[in-house]
Amino acid sequence: MVRQENLDPTALHWSHFLIAEDAGQTIGIGQIRPSPNCRELGSLVVLESHRKSGVGALLIEALVKDEPGPVFLECLAFREPYYSKFGFRRVPWWETPMPLKLKAGLGGIFGRLFGYQVVTMRWR
Ligand SMILES: CC(C)(COP(=O)(O)OP(=O)(O)OC[C@H]1O[C@@H](n2cnc3c(N)ncnc32)[C@H](O)[C@@H]1OP(=O)(O)O)[C@@H](O)C(=O)NCCC(=O)NCCS
Repeated sequence: MVRQENLDPTALHWSHFLIAEDAGQTIGIGQIRPSPNCRELGSLVVLESHRKSGVGALLIEALVKDEPGPVFLECLAFREPYYSKFGFRRVPWWETPMPLKLKAGLGGIFGRLFGYQVVTMRWR
């Protein structure tokens, strides 16, 4: 699901994931990528047939529910209003912890080259 959507294909260990199921079928996934300095919400994908019915929202809420500290994410700028609904706020690049800062920096360079904008957001 992650590869089909061209999302970051790194750190896909199953133990970090939550999945949403409908009658035994996996309809949505998401994870908190753990790294020494930062927790990152990522790999959020809902099957096209099940979108816009709140599955993504349930996954986000369940993933951050027990997080004691800040959670970061990176997304295309057009998704900022969606994540804002869950309390994520945009942060400038220099306030992003490593290793996300590196990824965000590369995203910024590629974005400028290919005409899209990546934003980093923080919850809490
Ligand atoms: C991003 C993604 C995970 C969202 O999943 P989703 O299950 O559709 O998310 P939700 O249902 O919570 O919300 C999607 C929209 O439907 C709306 N919605 C939710 N329940 C609804 C309902 N019952 N009726 C009508 N609209 C509804 C939400 O308000 C939201 O609207 P918005 O986009 O205007 O903010 C999904 O689009 C996806 O898999 N995209 C491809 C992968 C991707 O880009 N992942 C994110 C990487 S940053």
